Amino acid sequence: MMKTYNVGMVGAGFMAKAHSIAYAGMPMFFWPAPAMPVRKRIADSNPEAAMAGQERFGFQSWTTDWRDLVEDPDIDIIDICAPNNVHAEIAIAAANSGKHVICEKPLALTPVEAREMYFAAKKNQVKTMVAFNYRRTPAVQLAKKYIEEGAIGKILDFHGTYLQDWSAAPSSPLSWRFQKDICGSGALGDIGTHVVDMLRFLVGDFHSVHARTATYIKQRPLQTGAADRLGNVKGGENAPKGTVNVDDYCSFMVNCKNGAYGTIEATRNAWGRNNFITFEIHGTEGSIYFNYEHRDELQVCFSKDADDRRGFRTVYTGPSHPYGEGLWPIPALGIGYTETKIIEIYDFLHAIKEGQEADPCFRDGYAIELIADAVIKSAETRSWVDVAEIEEP
Ligand SMILES: NC(=O)c1ccc[n+]([C@@H]2O[C@H](COP(=O)([O-])OP(=O)(O)OC[C@H]3O[C@@H](n4cnc5c(N)ncnc54)[C@H](O)[C@@H]3O)[C@@H](O)[C@H]2O)c1
Repeated sequence: MMKTYNVGMVGAGFMAKAHSIAYAGMPMFFWPAPAMPVRKRIADSNPEAAMAGQERFGFQSWTTDWRDLVEDPDIDIIDICAPNNVHAEIAIAAANSGKHVICEKPLALTPVEAREMYFAAKKNQVKTMVAFNYRRTPAVQLAKKYIEEGAIGKILDFHGTYLQDWSAAPSSPLSWRFQKDICGSGALGDIGTHVVDMLRFLVGDFHSVHARTATYIKQRPLQTGAADRLGNVKGGENAPKGTVNVDDYCSFMVNCKNGAYGTIEATRNAWGRNNFITFEIHGTEGSIYFNYEHRDELQVCFSKDADDRRGFRTVYTGPSHPYGEGLWPIPALGIGYTETKIIEIYDFLHAIKEGQEADPCFRDGYAIELIADAVIKSAETRSWVDVAEIEEP
């Protein structure tokens, strides 16, 4: 019999959908699976969402209190798909109960919280993962392979973006994603951290940053109903308004510890850009370009090519690329958001089963919180700020 792990999920919204599909789909892609995940119980503070979540996302029961999951000896994994302000309390309680924890990004509201989460996981020797799923796109993993093999030489510099437009309209409501006490930061934490994770993974640790942030739309319509809404909600223009107290936009220069330079830009107010996650990395012997809106493709250029042939070429990821054996048998059939989440669950279960550290784990999530904190301090002081060092337990 294959090993099974019982999953308790907290939150029954957008990410619960993605993670539930991943638990269901993972063994269909990756067989034999490292273990079989069982969708045991789902918790949402909103009873209607919890009840619907059980039926819709295939769980055996529901509750409105996440503590029921943490205290249940039958549950092996706590999967946190709730807003950022509750990540730390749930993850620490789960680790203290001996559960493995996968937590959505950003890991926490502050580096202090993130450090406590990392320390709790270490103390209890549980495995952790932060759900920075975009780095699991096979083309991003292929970029990592090129870099590790030295195909583009020593990295000189990079440019990364995460541009969206769902909050560009002033009628886009005051989601929890615009309220500092719930989200911690705006575009920076919500989407900028994904690019930070990818570039830290590909290029290396950040040493210092110089940033600026802006809040373009300072008042947004209050929401009605329990569900959080994104984008242009019709009729919202006339609703009473509340204050946005996080950034709509951030951009920053980066000095890496290995000497590479970079720039990163994140905004949810870029009309025409939907999920425009890109990076371009230049090395002494070539360049790599990735755009998530064309996520089956990686563009590479090599200096060693003949002068009259040199230029970016497109490699479509398929069965011979990272995770290819489990995914689809033909390149360019289409890698989606779902596949990145399926790969994430595959890697997490594999790490738990083999007793290995997952990647990115809470330590990485904490490292990224330290970078985000340096970005905020830099924007406030208009100066270069060194990223604080990780404290070890
Ligand atoms: N990896 C990604 O690409 C990605 C994308 C979107 C969101 N996220 C992250 O996922 C997390 C959840 O975001 P979402 O988009 O699913 O939000 P959402 O608003 O769609 O769903 C969150 C759910 O959590 C519930 N909830 C709130 N407080 C709770 C509590 N104390 N106990 C139990 N349930 C509670 C809400 O009622 C809601 O149903 C956030 O941390 C967010 O940053 C990650």
